Amino acid sequence: MLSTTVLAFFCLATTLTGSQVLALDNGLAKTPPMGWISWERFLCNTDCKSHPGECIDQQLYLDMANKMVSDGYKNVGYDRINIDDCWSEKRRNQQQQLIPDRERFPMGIDGLSRVIHRLGLKLGIYGDCGTATCAGYPAQLKSQSNLEDNYFDLDARRLAEWQIDSFKFDGCNIDPNQAESICPKMTKALMQTNRSILLSCEWPFYKLRFGKGNPDYQLVKDSCNLWRYYDDITDSWISILSIVDFTVKMQTDIVKYHGPGGWFDPDQLVIGNFGLSLRQAQAQMAIWSIWSAPLYMSNDLRSIEPDMAEVLKNRKVIAIDQDPMGVFGMMVTEYPDHSVQVFVKPVMPIINSCPSFAIIYLNRRTLGNELMVSFKLRDIITKAPISLAAQRYNEINGSGGVAFNADECKKRLALAMTRERNIVPLVPGAKPLEPKLEETVVKYTVEDLFNDGPTVPIFINSNLEMKVKPSSAWMVKLVEIVQK
Ligand code: GLA
Repeated sequence: MLSTTVLAFFCLATTLTGSQVLALDNGLAKTPPMGWISWERFLCNTDCKSHPGECIDQQLYLDMANKMVSDGYKNVGYDRINIDDCWSEKRRNQQQQLIPDRERFPMGIDGLSRVIHRLGLKLGIYGDCGTATCAGYPAQLKSQSNLEDNYFDLDARRLAEWQIDSFKFDGCNIDPNQAESICPKMTKALMQTNRSILLSCEWPFYKLRFGKGNPDYQLVKDSCNLWRYYDDITDSWISILSIVDFTVKMQTDIVKYHGPGGWFDPDQLVIGNFGLSLRQAQAQMAIWSIWSAPLYMSNDLRSIEPDMAEVLKNRKVIAIDQDPMGVFGMMVTEYPDHSVQVFVKPVMPIINSCPSFAIIYLNRRTLGNELMVSFKLRDIITKAPISLAAQRYNEINGSGGVAFNADECKKRLALAMTRERNIVPLVPGAKPLEPKLEETVVKYTVEDLFNDGPTVPIFINSNLEMKVKPSSAWMVKLVEIVQK
């Protein structure tokens, strides 16, 4: 018999599954998109005379694209260069088409996209579902009084002609409660162009923040490949923690809809700018990755410090972000004052019908000494969304993968929890009614993802222990050791 506590542990994970949640049918963003975007670092600086090299012009995007290739970002998965606000002329042309600022983008967006494509990268651009972008540039709606009067088809065709690969669709200057009835029509317009254009939406955020009630996440997932749900990130630890708090508050909503084809977007990586220490930068990278969040850097790749670049290019952590099951890693236990939080995400490989796990200990304190953080491993992994992971794995692999059966997995873990505590030999000659003791022992290797070192073995009933410094995260991957 499994103990009631053990069964209760598994309850949360079980209720999180349910009917299949489909995504926008454009075949894109099967794993969270990765790339670079101009906004957080370069904002809407259009004064190229006073700030050459730091303003929104074609050279900025070319410089970043070249750096993405030459400095190895592309090799680890960052393959999108995204233009944000302030790229266009203040007025449409006589045919009502959008035109890029003539002085700042002399080769045009089509010219820029040709060069970006030659580098093996993809180009994204920015628009807005309202009557103007957030910075006041031309957007996709003609008037707020007649929402059907819009530039959706015209602009979608223009983006396709320019060979654009992704479109960030902001939500300023439209009634947030009306956005849901109109903004998804841009998705249709883009789909009709027959060019695969990844769609990053911001209008769901405005509904959540300023409108009545929650966005209709099924509609959002059917209309967008990623979508913002919280305020703009700034270059600070406080901003990162506020995103963590908000995200944790809505994690049960998120975990259901977040996955291949459609992702909640906590906003840009600010690693390599001015506000984060090295450990805080690692913490942002760790948390975004355990969430399976889009990884869009906004920084200056021409002058980034080598240790920050190393954080961004950490292949082990990126592999957690890009895990094909794309499960949202949840915060599952914390100190009563919230100063330490524990996150867990089921990841590949699947061993003995169970997933592996990524785990973070986040020390949010900004004072004091390092803390010895210790939780029972069983109290962490039994709260992970294992059923959801199994469902995803089986959807992705059909009958082609190894066996991943959530019920079997939970049974095995639960049995190990009850047996492992007293490792005593069975009575000689007695016929075991349950699996033999050795078969019920579940043992993992623990690999620190930011610091090289030996992997240590740990049992399911052991304490997972580490000294964690203030404002930092310890991130590990646990893979089950196959018993001989
Ligand atoms: C909003 C968005 C930002 C950026 C700006 C551009 O604030 O949240 O990410 O796109 O608009 O004006």
